[in-house]
Amino acid sequence: MSTTKIDTATLGSTGPRIGIQGLGCMGMSFAYGPTDADEARATLERALELGVTFYDTADMYGSGENETFLSPFVRAHRDEITIATKFGIVLDPDDPAARGVRNDRPYIRESVEGSLRRLGVDVIDLYYMHRRDPQVPIEDTVGAMAELVAEGKVRQLGLSEVTGAELRAAHAVHPIAAVQSEWSLFSRDVERTAVPAAGELGVAFVPYSPLGRGFLTGSFANAATDLTADDFRRGQPRFTGENAAANAALLEPIRRIAAAHDATPGQIALAWVHAQASARGLTVIPIPGTRRRTRVEENTAATRVALTAAELAELDTIAGRVTGDRYADMSFTSAGRE
Ligand SMILES: NC(=O)c1ccc[n+]([C@@H]2O[C@H](COP(=O)([O-])OP(=O)(O)OC[C@H]3O[C@@H](n4cnc5c(N)ncnc54)[C@H](OP(=O)(O)O)[C@@H]3O)[C@@H](O)[C@H]2O)c1
Repeated sequence: MSTTKIDTATLGSTGPRIGIQGLGCMGMSFAYGPTDADEARATLERALELGVTFYDTADMYGSGENETFLSPFVRAHRDEITIATKFGIVLDPDDPAARGVRNDRPYIRESVEGSLRRLGVDVIDLYYMHRRDPQVPIEDTVGAMAELVAEGKVRQLGLSEVTGAELRAAHAVHPIAAVQSEWSLFSRDVERTAVPAAGELGVAFVPYSPLGRGFLTGSFANAATDLTADDFRRGQPRFTGENAAANAALLEPIRRIAAAHDATPGQIALAWVHAQASARGLTVIPIPGTRRRTRVEENTAATRVALTAAELAELDTIAGRVTGDRYADMSFTSAGRE
């Protein structure tokens, strides 16, 4: 069994050094159907053996359940790993589909205490604003987050789904270590403003859903028929109906390139994301999500797949042909404010 560790990169301008690929832990408690908790725990340990030291959660994943689930692992490996969590999305207990957003100081101060308690740690390594509430000036939000750094509750700050202008305004108040937004072969709107701003400011980019929520691996072709009733992806326009069929056909070049590398389509999707670092001059640390050891082995091995310029050019043409938005409500994304 391979124990080759992945390479490392610096998170923001001041560190720490972390594995060049992180692990998205959301699916272990939330959004993607039933979970085998023992296998998920084993996946966390296997990832660490392979050099994955950056673990991603949020307070809203299972209304705190995901942070609680991660706590024993985080505490057992406190000095070896970087734990990232987020505040800002408010769930409605009476309506599982409803999403509110809060960015105000009292909410942030209350949220950080909840995350510290559930994770069972004294300090959060990277604390993200999960979604932007345009009613609250970003300077106020980042000012409140900076207080948490001064108080020793948080080490570094991050922002999710922000535009380039929002990132610049935030970074002027306090250094931002990372932007986390959706970025994959299928979802490239962040390249308009957020990616260039991150590159200029020395902010690391953390692509979420780099496997297109699993669609790019071919593990499902139509969310309505292939996934369980409670799966979040059934509500995403690009994964159902005519869109899903049209988008599944776009996987053909990915499969062909995968065969040429003796790799899987998912590895090609991840290799494309990793290749954006040198292509665009910024640090890129994707966080593919999985609950299975075999898949974390496959995904970390993708860091060693080198695509040719011709292959990258061919893969670059796919996103423009994707049909259907990445969220049912695009006002929930940075693209919705550009
Ligand atoms: N900031 C935000 O707003 C935001 C939004 C979404 C996600 N995130 C974060 O980003 C992380 C990753 O995103 P994501 O989980 O949405 O999408 P993703 O990483 O693109 O895909 C995850 C899906 O792909 C499957 N998968 C993973 N590796 C695979 C492989 N090698 N072969 C076949 N299938 C594979 C997983 O299933 P199994 O688990 O069964 O392997 C899961 O269903 C999340 O865990 C979360 O931490 C953040």
